[in-house]
Amino acid sequence: MSTLIPEANEAAASSEESETIGSDDAYVALLARLSRQSVDKHFDAYADVPWDDPEYRIDPDDPRWEVGLDDPITATDWYRSLSPEQRARLGLDLVVTKMKLGLQFESVLKRGLLEYALELPNRDPQFRYAYHEVIEEAHHSLMFQEFVNRSGFDVQGMRPGELAVARTIVGLGRRFPALFFFFVLGGEDPIDHVQRKSLRSGQPIHPLLERIMRIHVTEEARHLSFARHYLKHRVPELSPVRRAALGVAAPLILFGMAQMMLIPSRQVIERNGIPREVVREAYLRNPAHRQEVVSSLRKVRQLAEEVGILGPLHRRLWKALGLWPAQP
Ligand SMILES: [Fe+2]
Ligand SMILES: [Fe+2]
Repeated sequence: MSTLIPEANEAAASSEESETIGSDDAYVALLARLSRQSVDKHFDAYADVPWDDPEYRIDPDDPRWEVGLDDPITATDWYRSLSPEQRARLGLDLVVTKMKLGLQFESVLKRGLLEYALELPNRDPQFRYAYHEVIEEAHHSLMFQEFVNRSGFDVQGMRPGELAVARTIVGLGRRFPALFFFFVLGGEDPIDHVQRKSLRSGQPIHPLLERIMRIHVTEEARHLSFARHYLKHRVPELSPVRRAALGVAAPLILFGMAQMMLIPSRQVIERNGIPREVVREAYLRNPAHRQEVVSSLRKVRQLAEEVGILGPLHRRLWKALGLWPAQP
């Protein structure tokens, strides 16, 4: 499968967003549609990416790796003083690190989905869709790891403590699926937001990265649709105690994920010798950057409101955690 029409896919996904998935029948019909789409339009990490095409080779000095203008580090004097090669290497390092973090996130996601599917009754259509998603995520992780391997950068991704925390999420797939699906959206929605923005930016993108991003956004549209509709369908059925727990735990999970998105990893900072003041100026003390991270969680926040777990008290928690936009 090689034809990519993300716009069409986007349109299909957004028409699903506007539907009311209140009834069991509508939810089952959505699962059947998503499962069908996974059969009709799916990608293989090796058959559908021409890894050995000379055009797709990764050259760390290629100016197309320079950091995208949407990254606030590009506005600093320090970044502007770098040579073109240094800028390209920093940009590639940022991309490779995001791929590594992405595949680690997907590892948790796949295991959580398998936990979720493990005890579903026979004939439950969620089983089939969960497995389609696991298979697609496995191909994404193969693409991401292959990209990391070919980049020449030995990136670590999450630190051991972060990996230990991430592992605790896996069991939520069985014990508290609604919270697990908020975690899923907290990871997938911002990545999707960033990739779509980059594809539309008009900036030159390396063909290998572009190929990977187009495959990813095409399949993620379905994953996002499943997670959203699962929550729309299931959260209203939860007991008041569970809903209250979800209202508190969901922003805490999103806060943890926003922290990781807020600044580049320690390894990237050290390897590229980014001075501490530059990290502060570009990321930590840059309200515009914080707002950008917060706005990448806009759809998750709207969903929390829609399913009734974002009342006035919860809003105070979102604000205290820095997850509330200056202008919602
Ligand atoms: Fe993915
Ligand atoms: Fe996904």
